[in-house]
Amino acid sequence: SAPVVAIDGPSGAGKSTVSKTLATAIEAAYLDTGSMYRAATLAVIKAGVDPSQTAQVTKTVKNAKLEFGTTPEDPFTRLDGEDAGLAIRGDDVTKAVSAVAGNKTVRKFLIEEQRRLIAEAKNGIVVEGRDIVEVVAPDADVKVYLTADPAVRAGRRASEFGADTKATAKDIQRRDTADSKTTKPLEVPAGATVIDSTDLPIVEVVAKILALLNN
Ligand code: CDP
Repeated sequence: SAPVVAIDGPSGAGKSTVSKTLATAIEAAYLDTGSMYRAATLAVIKAGVDPSQTAQVTKTVKNAKLEFGTTPEDPFTRLDGEDAGLAIRGDDVTKAVSAVAGNKTVRKFLIEEQRRLIAEAKNGIVVEGRDIVEVVAPDADVKVYLTADPAVRAGRRASEFGADTKATAKDIQRRDTADSKTTKPLEVPAGATVIDSTDLPIVEVVAKILALLNN
């Protein structure tokens, strides 16, 4: 019956590729919660609101029309009816996202939406993020913390965007520090199985999670 798989981990650990591949393999839905915080951040930037203005940020995010696709083949993100898949990966969003994600009301609002999407997934769902195991879906059937060496994570992230590895490593570090107040990206959540993808190809990571699921 409809399995829920929770996958947490820091930037560049391979969460998105692994989660999408796994969801396709088990014919389940897929939810990238990072995209949701990024889309909320894009709405804030577009409205000209300073990410540190708590009340304004909350109001802007609640009023924005945010839509999220949960099929692994097309996990779209829309803001006010327009595709925002590219815009949410921009540098301006990446710089501001930790501040918006640190807003307690925004988190509460997006977590409610995440739980609604999970409940809606009749064939199960793979959910990736930073607080899925401990906060969003503590009753998940399988809980994974996916990690890798910092240098490898930065290298992956950089090649994904054709960016400089050193600059990317710095950026990841900055974000990990900012996020550590809200989601503790570098800590293993209680009850999660740790998978280190430093030397492990995607297919093998997926196979490990499938084995956990079939246990
Ligand atoms: O780009 P990267 O894969 O590192 O991150 P992401 O998954 O796109 O998430 C972007 C940001 O959203 C994170 O740096 C966190 O600030 C926030 N986030 C969060 O607070 N909680 C989550 N469950 C997922 C993301």
